[in-house]
Amino acid sequence: MAKFDFSKRDGFGSKFGVIAAAAGSAIGLGNIWRFPYVVGENGGGAFLLVYLFFVISIGIPVMMSEFVIGRSAQRNPVGSFKKLAPGKPWYLVGLMGVGAAFMILAFYTVVAGWTLEYLYQSVFNGFHGKSPEQIGNMFDNFRGSFRPIIWFLIFMVFTAGIVMAGIKNGIEKFTKILMPVLFLILIIISVRSLTLPGAGEGMKFLFKPDFSKITPKVILEALGQAFFSLSIGMGTLITYGSYISKKQNLTSTAFNVTMADTIIAIIAGIAIFPAVFAFGIPPASEEGLVFITLPVIFEQMPGGYFFSLLFFVLLSVAALTSTISVLEVIVAYMSEELNITRKQATILGTVTVAVLGAFASNSSAVFSVLNFTSATVLLPLGGLLIVVFIGWFYNKRKVEAELTNEGEFNSWFFKPFILLVKYLAPIAIAAVFLYGLGIF
Ligand code: TRP
Repeated sequence: MAKFDFSKRDGFGSKFGVIAAAAGSAIGLGNIWRFPYVVGENGGGAFLLVYLFFVISIGIPVMMSEFVIGRSAQRNPVGSFKKLAPGKPWYLVGLMGVGAAFMILAFYTVVAGWTLEYLYQSVFNGFHGKSPEQIGNMFDNFRGSFRPIIWFLIFMVFTAGIVMAGIKNGIEKFTKILMPVLFLILIIISVRSLTLPGAGEGMKFLFKPDFSKITPKVILEALGQAFFSLSIGMGTLITYGSYISKKQNLTSTAFNVTMADTIIAIIAGIAIFPAVFAFGIPPASEEGLVFITLPVIFEQMPGGYFFSLLFFVLLSVAALTSTISVLEVIVAYMSEELNITRKQATILGTVTVAVLGAFASNSSAVFSVLNFTSATVLLPLGGLLIVVFIGWFYNKRKVEAELTNEGEFNSWFFKPFILLVKYLAPIAIAAVFLYGLGIF
């Protein structure tokens, strides 16, 4: 089998393309499905503050570290560590990331499949005339049927199709169109939500912190949510970083992507909580928030048909630009390290995920284990090792050269960045992690 030809390695073509793709990875079900219910379960505004603190103090340094690793090495996560730390076990961090990619994709694409079912129901007015209880039963009946697997497979096929087409002609081309569409739809929906009578209560819930709600579990959840939402800790952004041209500024890319992700999560909260409170439905209803609570609301709200349709288009698009980024980790790894073609890698990766996902789709126990192990355990662990690699192991001169494009400009953020990756981020991740797991 021919070896991968690194001189012909694909890459992003434009600055906007990089940001669209990386923000497309970050912005997904994590922002629109997971964020609101995690905020709901963890008491609202206080959680939001802890979350923002982690995004800035840990999220940005980890994201920059991933970009530095990827762009220096121009390889998949495993190959990157092998190249930057030859003969050392650091490549295992990359391998753990590839493992996490399978797990995340398996449960994430199941939820993405649910969004297709709900899009389908929206088109055919399936919620019409149903009581809240019937809409709740609809979700349970749906999950108990064979339909989720079908939608899951359809979603995997879309994902694989884009990834197979490559970086410039696949991922970049699609995310450049889909991300602006997503933003527009979200704005329309939040304006609708904010103009509902009684919307103020929801805004209060989202933004007014009640510090008595902060517990160790809340703190761990906030950290896990920050990692999950920013797509960090498993090499997605090492992979995307490896496709960024040497001319681009990695620091500003990381800031832009983080800002976009955070703003979208907050706007998603603004789109959802005012509506939830306006209709007097309690917010802490787990995964059902988006699949039960919102359809109930759409059913009662003027223009509901239209908004339900828009919302599930939004959710599907957001999920798709994320699933492609996770599959790309697997495909980059397989095609570069196992010497198979991109097409073969895509097929092999997709089939493996499909098998795992079939279990996740059928069993909520498997689903929960995959969700918890990947988001709450593997991502923080991966993130910890990544910042330790950059802060303690990799040559500082090389980090500086990567962040300043070989001294082309001054990076004011370089010194604070080093302090963060050396001390604050690893200590904070380790502490929250051990504390949250009840180890000390
Ligand atoms: N960040 C995405 C979301 O919020 C999901 C995602 C994509 C992801 N790539 C990832 C999560 C890598 C963790 C790691 O929906």
